[in-house]
Amino acid sequence: MEPVIPILQTAHVSLVPIKPADAPILHRIYQQDGVLKYFPGPGSVPLEKVERWVKLTTEHWEKYAYGNWGILPEGETEIAGWAGLQFLPELDQTEVGYLLSPAFWGRGYATEVALASLQFGFEHFPLERIIALVHEDNLASRRVIEKCKMQYVDTITLWGMQLLRSEVHRSEFLEK
Ligand SMILES: CC(C)(COP(=O)(O)OP(=O)(O)OC[C@H]1O[C@@H](n2cnc3c(N)ncnc32)[C@H](O)[C@@H]1OP(=O)(O)O)[C@@H](O)C(=O)NCCC(=O)NCCS
Repeated sequence: MEPVIPILQTAHVSLVPIKPADAPILHRIYQQDGVLKYFPGPGSVPLEKVERWVKLTTEHWEKYAYGNWGILPEGETEIAGWAGLQFLPELDQTEVGYLLSPAFWGRGYATEVALASLQFGFEHFPLERIIALVHEDNLASRRVIEKCKMQYVDTITLWGMQLLRSEVHRSEFLEK
């Protein structure tokens, strides 16, 4: 059975369920300059891998009742990226993540969707903290994390990369 995935509205975008037909759209976005620069693995991702990721994303929603959404900017007909929450068994923690097509960078969208994801996570689930993982050189993402009032905790090695781990506690987030 398909999971019930809520649609969230932020100031400029909707967060919508990611469907199999979105795989080629995400595949196209991943081929744009700089999009996967700070993600693990080789630069290019085959379409089959994106299709698998879309399937895993739906399964994640089924299992945890939270997950990643597609980002649909106002007035657009195709998603411009994804954002949301993912449980990481390796760390036994939940991560907020986001990725946007370059055409939509610099408009505050990532901050909007990260904040909406954090709000959703803390409102609906007994999560004590939510983390963010970012490559040291990914300054735009580090700034998003900062704007979400997440605090640096430590630097860890995960997926073959050194990543800065930041976190926000539910009490800190909900009292803001
Ligand atoms: C990281 C990413 C999601 C940011 O999206 P965005 O919608 O442009 O982010 P926002 O507009 O909400 O905020 C970006 C902030 O970073 C700042 N910024 C952008 N590039 C920067 C740079 N090179 N150095 C320092 N700050 C930078 C912006 O000025 C803005 O801060 P401000 O509001 O104080 O001016 C986007 O660049 C992206 O999708 N990158 C590829 C995927 C990725 O790396 N995802 C994160 C993995 S951890």
